[in-house]
Amino acid sequence: MQAAARWRRLVRARLAEMEQLSPGRGAVGGAYWNEKGRARRFSAALDATAEKDPLFARLRQASGRRSTVVDVGAGTGRFSLALAPRVREVVAVDPSRAMLGMLRKTARQRGVDNVRSLESTWQDAPLGPADGVPQADVIFCSYVLPLIADAGAFVAKMDASCCGRAFVYMNAWSTEALTEPFWRHFHGSPRRPAPTYLDLQAILQDIGVRPEVEIVEVATRARFDTLAAAVKAYREVLVLPDSAEVRAELRRLLRPWLVEDAGALRPPLRSTPAAIVSWAAGSAR
Ligand SMILES: C[S@@+](CC[C@H](N)C(=O)[O-])C[C@H]1O[C@@H](n2cnc3c(N)ncnc32)[C@H](O)[C@@H]1O
Repeated sequence: MQAAARWRRLVRARLAEMEQLSPGRGAVGGAYWNEKGRARRFSAALDATAEKDPLFARLRQASGRRSTVVDVGAGTGRFSLALAPRVREVVAVDPSRAMLGMLRKTARQRGVDNVRSLESTWQDAPLGPADGVPQADVIFCSYVLPLIADAGAFVAKMDASCCGRAFVYMNAWSTEALTEPFWRHFHGSPRRPAPTYLDLQAILQDIGVRPEVEIVEVATRARFDTLAAAVKAYREVLVLPDSAEVRAELRRLLRPWLVEDAGALRPPLRSTPAAIVSWAAGSAR
C-alpha cells in the first residue's frame, strides 16, 4: 500500500503548508466551502458548464433511465442536476451545508425533484455495503480527491457502494504549474505538490483495480470582469494575506499576465487537461 501512503504524505504536507500560511485553511472540508459567498460564486462560475464537460458525456454513457447515481462531493451539484432528468435518482453527498443549499435552490428553480442531498463527508456517509442501501449503478467524484488524505479507503468505499461504473475526475496537469512562479515570488519556495491522477492509478492497482484513464481538455473557466476581481481570486489561490502591499504587487504581476478575452480577463491558457479515471466497480480486493 505504498501508493496510499505516498498520497497521504503529499496531502498532509500540503494541508499543513496551507494551515501554516493561513490558520484554518488547512481544514479544507465542508467549513471552507461554507464561508460566506463561496458556494454562490462556485455555482455561478460552474453550474452551467456541466453539459459541455467531457465527464458528463461519460456519465451519460454509463447510466440510463433506471439508474441510481451517487455524486461524491457534489458541491453545488453541476453534474447531479444535469444528469437528474436522464436517470431515476441522484444522491448528492457533500459535507458543506452551503454548497448543498445552493444545489437544492437550483434544483427547485429547474424543477428537478429526483436529487437527494445528503450532508456528510463521503467517509461518514451511510451508503457503504454495511448500511443496507442498494448499490448505485454509477458513482462519481469530481474535483474532491486531492484534498483527501486517506484516498485508499475513500476510493475503496466508492468501489464497494456501486455495482456499475465508478469515476474519479481530477486535474491531469495542475493549473498551479502556471501560477508557481507567483507562489515562489511571494513565499520564497516552491509549493508543496499535490498528488496526481498517476498516484490514484497506483492506489487503485494496489487494491486490485485496473482503471481506464482518459485525458480530456477542459475549458479554463476563470473569467474576471476587473483586475481587482482577479487580484482577489489569485490572493486566495496563492494563500496570501489581504494587505494593500500584497494587492498592489499582485496587480503589478497579473496585469501583463492575464489575457483580455471578450471583454473579460482570463488566465493565459484556454484549456487545461483533466483525467477521467474509471473502472468497473466491485473489482477491488
Ligand atoms: C471543488 S468542489 C467540487 C464540487 C463538484 N464535485 C464539482 O465538480 O463541481 C469540492 C467539494 O468537495 C466537498 N468535500 C470536501 N471534503 C469532502 C469529503 N470528505 N467527502 C465528500 N465531499 C467533500 C466540498 O464540500 C466541496 O463541495
